[in-house]
Amino acid sequence: MSGSQTGASSLPGQLPRLTHEELRRAQAETLASPRRKYGLAARALFLLLDTLYGKPRTLGKFKVLELVARVPYQSWEQVAYIAITHMHERQGMARRIHDRIAECRAQQDNELWHLLILEELVAGSGQRQPRIKFFWLPQLIAFGYYQLSLLLFVIRPAWSYRLNADFEDHAEHEYMTMVEEHPEWESIPFESEFADDYGHFTSRADLFRQIAHDERVHKRESEEQMSQPRFS
Ligand SMILES: [Fe+2]
Ligand SMILES: [Fe+2]
Repeated sequence: MSGSQTGASSLPGQLPRLTHEELRRAQAETLASPRRKYGLAARALFLLLDTLYGKPRTLGKFKVLELVARVPYQSWEQVAYIAITHMHERQGMARRIHDRIAECRAQQDNELWHLLILEELVAGSGQRQPRIKFFWLPQLIAFGYYQLSLLLFVIRPAWSYRLNADFEDHAEHEYMTMVEEHPEWESIPFESEFADDYGHFTSRADLFRQIAHDERVHKRESEEQMSQPRFS
């Protein structure tokens, strides 16, 4: 395998891995593209995060973001399992629901690696992580976000997908901007206990470009789902 990353691309649920040049191009594309027009709920969430964790892009703030990022996928997975209970006799439909569950789980796993890598980087940075602010409050935000995502999905799935597309678009832009703000990351190697699971990158800059690209893929998947009927 060429470029920045080697080794782990065949693992189940893993998103496409880009070379160093592709990652740099992806960063330029993101920074040159406008953000989505965020809805009210997304804007309220971003405001809440800025208020609690500050506007500057810090590793600690991204850790909180990743903790929250997993929950829409969990809520959709839960709804899909309930749907299987009611529709298992319709084989075609049950198969499509199963496929959606598999997608949701793959995306959750991807977000989980983001979270674990961020956790590791924060721990290694020596940044203080007061427990209320970086453990209990994020749990509370994730719980509320889960309920909102679930409620929106039950009322109208497109609303829940739209909220997630906004969230992923925001994450994509924020990660790529953070890389731009840290030119020194180009020469910091990425060494991690999770490299064999997530991927090997020559620098911390490429690691975060890859994470941002994952968020772009998540965004596009949600945008596609916005125009689909439920479990189609
Ligand atoms: Fe993520
Ligand atoms: Fe994501």
